[in-house]
Amino acid sequence: MPLRVRLTLWYGTALALILIIFSTILYVITARSLRDAVDQSLEETAAAAVRSLEERGFLPLIDETELMSQFPELARIDKFFQIFSPSGTITIRSPNVKQHEMPLSRQALEVAYSGRTLFESAKYPKEPPLRLISVPIIYRGNLLYIIQVGTSMDSVEQTLNRLLLVLLVSMPVALVVSLAGGWFMAGRALRPVDAITLAAQRIAGGDLTQRLTVPASADEIGRLANTFNDMIDRLETSFRQIRQFTSDASHELRTPLTVMKGESELALRRPRETEDYKVVLESNLEEIDRMTRIVDELLFLSRADMGEVKMEHLPVPLDTLIEDVHRQASLLGQERDIQVMLRATASAVVVGDELRLRELFLNLLDNAVKYSRPGGTVDIALTIEQGEARVSVTDHGIGIAQENQPRIFNRFYRTDDARAHTKKGTGLGLSICAWIAELHRGHIEVQSKVGEGSTFTVMLPLAPAST
Ligand SMILES: Nc1ncnc2c1ncn2[C@@H]1O[C@H](COP(=O)(O)OP(=O)(O)O)[C@@H](O)[C@H]1O
Ligand SMILES: [Mg+2]
Repeated sequence: MPLRVRLTLWYGTALALILIIFSTILYVITARSLRDAVDQSLEETAAAAVRSLEERGFLPLIDETELMSQFPELARIDKFFQIFSPSGTITIRSPNVKQHEMPLSRQALEVAYSGRTLFESAKYPKEPPLRLISVPIIYRGNLLYIIQVGTSMDSVEQTLNRLLLVLLVSMPVALVVSLAGGWFMAGRALRPVDAITLAAQRIAGGDLTQRLTVPASADEIGRLANTFNDMIDRLETSFRQIRQFTSDASHELRTPLTVMKGESELALRRPRETEDYKVVLESNLEEIDRMTRIVDELLFLSRADMGEVKMEHLPVPLDTLIEDVHRQASLLGQERDIQVMLRATASAVVVGDELRLRELFLNLLDNAVKYSRPGGTVDIALTIEQGEARVSVTDHGIGIAQENQPRIFNRFYRTDDARAHTKKGTGLGLSICAWIAELHRGHIEVQSKVGEGSTFTVMLPLAPAST
């Protein structure tokens, strides 16, 4: 069942219940208070009659003419009255009760003897219902008379019937009108949801450039649309990255293959000296090494992406690690006449994987040496700042232009300067470095100027003080 129908049904049911309860209460309270008002007025009239009898010293009333001259207003009021003797026979009654006899009921007589007042309802065929009050008049312990005052309930019944009619007619009308309103509102509220569904279908169909128009309101629907758009943004970015990555990877692997193919074909064109074949094979071996490295690094990164690379969580003393790495880098530097200097070491312990951290620092030092000019120096420093271990690697080589700095951590990205400077390199080293730093809840920052050199700083959280 559509949400719109369900919402409207729920709403309608709740509203109908409320209307029914409300109308019932309204009807009952109105009926009760109208009847109470009648009773009260009967009581007041009876009390007035008793008072005037008292004033006359309870003299027996002889006839109607006398009564009418005593109480001329009787002819006009909407009430009638009768006065009964203690035996229950009528002594006198007002002129407006002429149609038929209305004897005193047994119960009224009994109650009168016990000195109490009684209210009764009476109904004669083809007449509106009556309401009666019977009041005993007791003088010195003897029952003298019973005064009965009555009135027709006609107007009360009519009022109640009209009220019932109004309620019965207006209730369904109100229900229908507000159901229609509810249906309209639910439709309005749910329209953005339909729009989102349509857009989602288009996007699922492959069009990742689609976005939802976000309603201006910051309500649930607005938040949903925003979240949805964010999700598509991320999807689009990662799809673009995957496409880019695939094309970069193919390109990087294609270059060495082209070189190998060209050289091999050239060598095979005519018979050659053994020495020439050796040169070609050596060159090919170099390209194969390069491809092997690319494939190894790719494999590592893709396993890392899938969370398959295991990492230790052990305390690693950074100072000894850095000293060790420094020795290794010095050997690297010797080949290119570059001096690697250890400028500062602080004693710092981080939690993590020593092998991976070693790889991270060696990658940075490899870059620093590789992109330095012969005769240059590379500095390493380990310091502690704001509860973090900072390892910085500084060179005075080719540097990186400001606009390229955000991209050097992307897979396969190499600056044009770097490509011109050396063929050695895959563009994957810094991606691996960034990944390792992240696994240690740290990060890497770059400061660099073209032609002047670069500083890569690795920030790592210190191990919690061991007790
Ligand atoms: N110390 C450095 N000096 C200048 N450029 C650097 C330095 N380190 C990294 N880069 C730039 O960042 C790019 C990516 O580095 P990396 O991922 O290690 O790839 P690779 O070392 O294989 O070129 C390099 O190609 C280079 O353009
Ligand atoms: Mg590198």
